Amino acid sequence: MAIRDILKYPHPILRRKAAQVTDFDDNLRKLVADMAETMYDAPGVGLAAPQIGVSLQLLVMDITGKDEEPELIVLANPVLSEGEGAALEEEGCLSVVDLTARVQRFTKIRVQAQDIDGTSLDFIADEWFARVIQHEVDHLNGILFIDHLSSLKRAMYKKKRKKQLAQATA
Ligand code: NI
Repeated sequence: MAIRDILKYPHPILRRKAAQVTDFDDNLRKLVADMAETMYDAPGVGLAAPQIGVSLQLLVMDITGKDEEPELIVLANPVLSEGEGAALEEEGCLSVVDLTARVQRFTKIRVQAQDIDGTSLDFIADEWFARVIQHEVDHLNGILFIDHLSSLKRAMYKKKRKKQLAQATA
């Protein structure tokens, strides 16, 4: 296992639509192990493969609390449907540094996906679990949480980030 570098906005891979996972093999297991290690190290509650530069429809998450046993969830090729309700809650992202903002998401969704062995999954997620899945699935479609903000807020963040990067290379 290895901790991988997390790509940061505005890296172009974060904007790509990821390809389907087709091979549920040892390479996939290794990739998932790296993603999990990278996510726990960050620390974050979710990580999508494009965030470490692998443009595949694959994500890991763990929404258990600090004092609970960790429980890793792996979803390949997730498809969301039957969105219900709406809630505005604070989100951040390991690929969008120095910004958190309130984002509107469905409060309940149906999730169809495959697990690490390629077995089909079909379940209903709600509340925080549903929010994290929606955030991570966005990554697989090249969407970042800043895309859900007003164009003014997004423009402000772009400007701030440009300045940061200019200072970093100065
Ligand atoms: Ni994110």
